[in-house]
Amino acid sequence: MTTFKALESSKTDNGNKLSIVEKSIDDLPEGEILVKVNYSSLNYKDALSASGAPGVTRNYPHTPGIDAAGVIAESSDNDFKEGDSVIVTGYDLGMDTAGGFGEYIRVPASWVIRMPKGLSESDSMALGTAGLTAGLSVQALNDHNSHKGFEGLNTVVTGATGGVGSIAVMLLSKLGASVTAVTGKDAQKELLQNLGASEVLSREELIEMCRTPIGKTIWDFGVDVVSGNTLTLLLASLKPGGAVACSGLVGGPSFESSIFPFILRGNALLGIDSVEIPLEKKSQVWENFASNWKMDLTPLVKEVSLEQLETEISTILEGGQVGRVLVKVS
Ligand SMILES: NC(=O)c1ccc[n+]([C@@H]2O[C@H](COP(=O)([O-])OP(=O)(O)OC[C@H]3O[C@@H](n4cnc5c(N)ncnc54)[C@H](OP(=O)(O)O)[C@@H]3O)[C@@H](O)[C@H]2O)c1
Repeated sequence: MTTFKALESSKTDNGNKLSIVEKSIDDLPEGEILVKVNYSSLNYKDALSASGAPGVTRNYPHTPGIDAAGVIAESSDNDFKEGDSVIVTGYDLGMDTAGGFGEYIRVPASWVIRMPKGLSESDSMALGTAGLTAGLSVQALNDHNSHKGFEGLNTVVTGATGGVGSIAVMLLSKLGASVTAVTGKDAQKELLQNLGASEVLSREELIEMCRTPIGKTIWDFGVDVVSGNTLTLLLASLKPGGAVACSGLVGGPSFESSIFPFILRGNALLGIDSVEIPLEKKSQVWENFASNWKMDLTPLVKEVSLEQLETEISTILEGGQVGRVLVKVS
């Protein structure tokens, strides 16, 4: 019986407890593809799953990890063979299906993406679901703008030092936009400028700058992971025809708005889902990151082992995340 190492979250009377355990491959769920996981990454949702927060994982003990990159160890699907390098993100991985914080995952072939040429396993997980979400946000904004690109446009990114935010800052800047980064971390101003932000605002400065229900026209496009009052302010400050791509809720699940941005300026709010969308949509973003969107993420990435993950999980839950945590699994 082959065993492997995994980080496991289990329920106790004092909340969830994390430990490194030995698991058996026979314990993994059914699926056509068994992957030997080399890298994973830490996302906000993983921290929610690991800590037992409601709404992500129902059944414990559980191995979190919504992202995995590695090599196929067994395949009963004709499109994939042993030794293929692959990416798996989203769907039920790491939710109620044992995830990428273990040395093996077994998943349906319909969740598996072949690693694009030009992207290594560690590159793909430095991006992870956060990068995929930033990419989907940028793609949605470009679709909304009739594929005219971002050259010379004014954009704004919230939660800018976090996973989705930091990659969105880099990508929009690479694509020629002027980027305002909104952050709660004064000390990371220089990092954000190095990533390409032309302006860095504190959350308080954003509040001073924007008026509701409708204010000055400041930005063409926004990428928002915060929701709450931040999203309210962004929507009230878009130029005519502008849009915000929203994917997150670190500032709370609800936000207020008025009809004014929509009927006076033709603005749009574009919802981003990186989890359940068709595989082809995910593949397109990975192909972009391997080619015309290729970026050096080294300044953003911290590599940790499974044993070091618990500390990182606490940091991300406290809103202290800076950049991306790459997990070397095996
Ligand atoms: N829709 C999807 O498919 C999808 C995919 C990925 C992520 N998400 C969601 O997107 C959000 C961000 O994910 P992530 O992985 O980027 O998380 P993250 O790495 O923890 O980044 C979130 C950032 O938001 C800021 N922030 C934290 N708490 C805040 C608060 N109370 N008010 C305002 N800003 C706050 C912080 O940046 P600053 O200090 O720089 O402000 C933090 O670093 C999460 O809600 C996540 O669930 C959704």
